[in-house]
Amino acid sequence: MTDSIALRVNGEMRHLPLDPATPLLQVLRNDLCLNGPKYGCGLGQCGACSVLIEGRVARACVISLGAVAGRDVVTLEGLGESGQLDPVQTAFIDCQAAQCGYCLNGMIMTVRGLLNHCMRPSREKIVSALNYNLCRCGTHVEILEAAMLAAE
Ligand code: FES
Repeated sequence: MTDSIALRVNGEMRHLPLDPATPLLQVLRNDLCLNGPKYGCGLGQCGACSVLIEGRVARACVISLGAVAGRDVVTLEGLGESGQLDPVQTAFIDCQAAQCGYCLNGMIMTVRGLLNHCMRPSREKIVSALNYNLCRCGTHVEILEAAMLAAE
């Protein structure tokens, strides 16, 4: 029997009797039914699986459950307060920044992670933060516009 691992997910303490080597993305999607984080490459390269760990963006496909024991994890589902969307989510809607939408979890979580630590990032800083988030539809122009709006 595996000891349970405790962590906070979207503000709620969870005790998970799972193998500590299990990828966090697998735990979030399969065990906690949080499907905001997407499975893209599984190699830490596309950003689709991004979550916030202690407020900083991280790629859940390459982080083990054991590595986040006792830590605070936020997924797309945990953004916003009091039933309101996070301003980053609102900006993405206002700018119609989705085409297929698969990458948007990563884009939104990356921008939120940036804004958590940098109040008014420059365009260059936003571009740099999103540099390794891939969008196969090519809606980078709208995504950047949304990120800039969220940063205002
Ligand atoms: Fe995690 Fe691509 S699925 S970075």
